[in-house]
Amino acid sequence: MPALVLLGAQWGDEGKGKATDLLGGSVDYVVRYQGGNNAGHTVVVGDQKYALHLLPSGILSPGCTPVIGNGVVVDPSVLLSELSGLEERGVDTSKLLVSGNAHLITPYHATLDKTTERFLGKRKIGTTGRGIGPTYADKINRVGIRVQDLFDESILLQKVEAALDFKNQVLAKLYNRRAISAQQVVEELLGYAGQIEKYVADTTLVLNRAIDDDKVVLFEGGQGTLLDVDHGTYPFVTSSNPTAGGACTGAGVGPTKISRVIGILKAYTTRVGAGPFPTELFDEDGEALRRIGGEFGVTTGRNRRCGWFDAVIARYATRVNGLTDFFLTKLDVLTGWERIPVCVAYEIEGERTTELPYNQSDFHHAKPVYEYLPGWSEDITKAKTFADLPRNAQAYVRALEEMSGAPVSAIGVGPGRDETIEINAFL
Ligand code: GDP
Ligand code: IMO
Ligand code: MG
Repeated sequence: MPALVLLGAQWGDEGKGKATDLLGGSVDYVVRYQGGNNAGHTVVVGDQKYALHLLPSGILSPGCTPVIGNGVVVDPSVLLSELSGLEERGVDTSKLLVSGNAHLITPYHATLDKTTERFLGKRKIGTTGRGIGPTYADKINRVGIRVQDLFDESILLQKVEAALDFKNQVLAKLYNRRAISAQQVVEELLGYAGQIEKYVADTTLVLNRAIDDDKVVLFEGGQGTLLDVDHGTYPFVTSSNPTAGGACTGAGVGPTKISRVIGILKAYTTRVGAGPFPTELFDEDGEALRRIGGEFGVTTGRNRRCGWFDAVIARYATRVNGLTDFFLTKLDVLTGWERIPVCVAYEIEGERTTELPYNQSDFHHAKPVYEYLPGWSEDITKAKTFADLPRNAQAYVRALEEMSGAPVSAIGVGPGRDETIEINAFL
């Protein structure tokens, strides 16, 4: 039975939550492998809407075990409040497993995230302010605090003191802020420990055994390919690896175990925060995409920047992730345009290229080269099969597929579970 990765092929918010939830009913484990509560995944079930940040979207499917892998950064207060919010709405959260090796976001990480952004001024990244970058920095610097540290008070205090030694110097001397008390941080963290302990497990062992036992395991990415710290538009990226390889390191499962990598691809493009975005629109079309697509951040409420579909990026996502299929989302949002521009190449200082330039300055100067595809005006939200789509919508999907380098196996025509056209079954 398969282990699948489902990840964002653009700059996040492609509809990963909906896609994961859709498969959740047939999946035994859904695993988050990177990121933290910077993610905002919307899942619509019937007339109920859920916004998930840290928990895998599979938590909404009874029978599915949700797993927070070692590669995730966990804010314990967010974890507990998200769990209690779901429990209040009747969702059974008791199966959740959390890796003891996952790193903890503490209050000083969030403080440092916000303070650093303020210090950067106009060079800021536009982070979500959730402490993601500083927590991963501590992990790599080997001064991080892990979930397992919550259960040994003296180790926890030693580690928090070691982490704060340097940070307090920076906070006080560089940022002119008050130093943070290690004792207070430890007391806050210990207050969460008792409630979290029951979820903690050796998740790599659990997941490898599950795969060996022919269970279906789905790895759910947060963020997207172009926000990847290695393969994205650095430095305007998040601090982890949403790309397919991240599923292996972030869950402790070898690449030979993964059989399918599905890229979630929006029928147009959006981005939140700073950084280059060649097809970004600053006109009425951009406003219309935002309004019709509801492109407002689930986590920070910020307006998402909107633009036309970029095939250069989609092809790049196919390459760096080894995508086997696409799930094309939000096709319904494009209904009503007479013709739809699609970026097929970039022009950089007079030269045309069909590949994403590896040079940062070149990408900043990339001008989109558009092809114009005929639009459609019929409502497509009730379409159940590919044949139900108007001819021009079918042609739009086929053109994107051709340009992007992997088959489109499903199409989203609305936010609900049932507003999906399945072309090739994922499972
Ligand atoms: P994620 O971060 O990738 O999970 O995506 P978000 O939840 O942040 O943003 C995607 C938004 O689009 C959510 O509000 C979804 O409910 C919605 N959505 C997902 N698929 C579709 C679709 O096919 N059509 C429409 N109209 N909305 C969709
Ligand atoms: P989902 O999972 C869109 C962006 C932030 C910022 C950059 C770095 O919902 O697709 P961070 O707080 O991670 O250090 O911010 O990354 N960003 C996202 N953009 N969707 C997300 O998640 C994002 N998570 C982070 O806006 O530009
Ligand atoms: Mg989102």
